[in-house]
Amino acid sequence: MTLGKFITFEGIDGAGKSTHLAFVAELLRAAGKTVVLTREPGGTPLGEKLRTLLLHEAMDLETEALLMFAARREHLAQVIEPALARGDWVISDRFTDATFAYQGGGRKLPFERLEVLEQWVHPHRQPDLTLLFDVPLDVARARLDATRELDRFEREKAVFFEDTRQGYLRRAAQFPQRFRRIDSTRSIEAIQAELRDLVGAL
Ligand code: ADP
Ligand code: TYD
Repeated sequence: MTLGKFITFEGIDGAGKSTHLAFVAELLRAAGKTVVLTREPGGTPLGEKLRTLLLHEAMDLETEALLMFAARREHLAQVIEPALARGDWVISDRFTDATFAYQGGGRKLPFERLEVLEQWVHPHRQPDLTLLFDVPLDVARARLDATRELDRFEREKAVFFEDTRQGYLRRAAQFPQRFRRIDSTRSIEAIQAELRDLVGAL
């Protein structure tokens, strides 16, 4: 049985997810909820090991998609499902929509193939709310810290991120009831006012 709610944060690198995660967690805590903040790939000891491989080792495209879902299976079993069953609210920095966007949109794996894995790994679980932080690529790029060392995904070319963004928008059009597109070109304050309304409604 599910007592808590599941919120996911999505968007291309530099779109503003991390900036708003703590804000939403704080809103929920102020409303008396117990919040579990987590991320993908990762979220469990095994998942974090897979994350290191995924972000830094060259690998076949299908291996990459399978490892994303392997880490996700562990994450669901160890963290997400137990927390929701306790009545906690779970906020995850990325989830399955990221695989459709990056491995599907960005790397061109057919959505139909990823849908098979989605059905295998979590046939009965979808987020209650997915916040898609959406910005044009040049805005996201300009915001990324130029001094930080980039991972395997962040080193990709512009076209990869354009395709990834389109992958997200395609998923959002497919599941309009749970997706909310946040125009992330606006000020942090304007975005937080919208987030307050969205989370309040949930
Ligand atoms: P993500 O987690 O999606 O990769 P971040 O939240 O780390 O993105 O944001 C990337 C950078 O952009 C950070 O330096 C952050 O301070 C800045 N930033 C985020 N949102 C905005 C915004 N609405 N306006 C201006 N700068 C922003
Ligand atoms: P993220 O934690 O957002 O990176 P950072 O810590 O640098 O902000 O995500 C790591 C990367 O993994 C990101 O570039 C997107 C990618 N990714 C996929 O390609 N597929 C997936 O299913 C997930 C969850 C992430």
